[in-house]
Amino acid sequence: MPIATALEPISVISNKRNLEFNNFEKVPSHNRNLKVTSIQRNNKKARIFKPLNGPKLSKRALEIQNEEFLLSKGIIIVRNNKYHTETNPNGIINLGTAENKLNNVEMLSKINDPKISTVTPEQLLYGPNPGSDRLREEIAKLLNRHFNPKVLLSKENICVGNGCGPLLNLCGEVLFDAGDAFLVPEPFYGGFEADIKYGARVYPVPVQHEKDDCLKVSEEALEEALRNSSRPVKGIIIANPNNPFGRCYSAEQLLLFCNFAKSHGLFVICDEIYGLSTWNDIVTENIEEGKTIEDYECHYLPDPQNTHGLWGFSKDFCLNGLRIGVTISYSKTVMAAIQKICFLTCIPTNIDNILVNILSDEKWTDEFILNNNRKLFKSYNHLTNSLNAHGIPYVKGDSGFFIYIDLHQAGLDEYDLWMKLLEGGLYISPSQAFFSKDSYEERNWFRICFAVEQAELDLSLDRLYKVLDNLKQNKLN
Ligand SMILES: Cc1ncc(COP(=O)(O)O)c(C=O)c1O
Repeated sequence: MPIATALEPISVISNKRNLEFNNFEKVPSHNRNLKVTSIQRNNKKARIFKPLNGPKLSKRALEIQNEEFLLSKGIIIVRNNKYHTETNPNGIINLGTAENKLNNVEMLSKINDPKISTVTPEQLLYGPNPGSDRLREEIAKLLNRHFNPKVLLSKENICVGNGCGPLLNLCGEVLFDAGDAFLVPEPFYGGFEADIKYGARVYPVPVQHEKDDCLKVSEEALEEALRNSSRPVKGIIIANPNNPFGRCYSAEQLLLFCNFAKSHGLFVICDEIYGLSTWNDIVTENIEEGKTIEDYECHYLPDPQNTHGLWGFSKDFCLNGLRIGVTISYSKTVMAAIQKICFLTCIPTNIDNILVNILSDEKWTDEFILNNNRKLFKSYNHLTNSLNAHGIPYVKGDSGFFIYIDLHQAGLDEYDLWMKLLEGGLYISPSQAFFSKDSYEERNWFRICFAVEQAELDLSLDRLYKVLDNLKQNKLN
């Protein structure tokens, strides 16, 4: 029996009429319905009410509600006026969200094959929480084929869940205690804050990169961040390829993170969600001239029991909406702990089956990955040729599907420029969404995605240049 029906005579219905006056603390008559909390006083825009007898929220939920998620401001504007070639050609183009739209035809024709996606009676029942054995075997095979780990992965090293975001939170629950912190090179993917802080209550401690190279982080910078943290630091979290730079760390840098972590008793979580969208040859690009991979002695991870990976289908398989991520670990203890609570993050059985069918077709899968990388490379070249021609500096990329562009030339505050671009019909992500340092140099960078058809990319660039030109004209007048 629904609770409303059960309680109707005594509470729910009869109280409804009085909710407005009775459920809130009595305050002076000019502001009778609302009791303003101290949180609200600190943030004039937030409207947090403290009900006495009404719905109650945890301190955590109140804190989260009061936090501003910068990108959601832009996203709301975009959603209300979304660009569509035919139905809304003047709408806002979204090149801010990290989505790859270059392979819709290939992916849909595979997934929509009835042999792959028809739901069976067995799929109507609960499935295994960490993903089926078949799926975890197929994922291990895929990662072994493409990442070439020195110690081969098997299904025991894999736990599947509903996206890397929720899985990062799961790692937060398993590896950290509430109130702990992790080092993260800044600027960093915004989800490294929200995903792990909102649930597991684990906090980022930003680490500065070298002045002349945003993909270089020195041991001294890591030491300094560790020393100055007011919270106990338990780990290092990095994204490789990096988000927002769309570039891989060098082998040497990765080894520095791992060795630093080992020597300070920290663990490493390496989020490799763009790991199969590495369209430049990683090995030759990332090794210093005159050296070979053997020079780095990275045949094995320095501390395999404390080095954990994340990977997923959102980016490399263009399946953001299906919500599938993977936790990877060589540690039996950590895997056992993750498996104990992964019932909170399991994926639907029919999605499990769809993925098995895709991955077991190795020829199709490997061609898909190769073609995707060809398309990304082409699109990157197209974008950077255009930026070069218009004198817009950017961080050179080698992977993923976005680059970080420098819009200091606009001469506007970053937020105001972001709004101007939205008015001009283009949504891209400002540096503040990546927790960039509040300095002249680090602000006024924007991440722009390029995994869209060329016509849409060209239209976006026209809109970007138009906004910049208008600003220049206004300054001259
Ligand atoms: C580095 C990184 N990790 C994780 C995620 C979230 O992944 P998922 O869609 O699997 O939750 C993103 C999405 O943009 C990302 O860029």
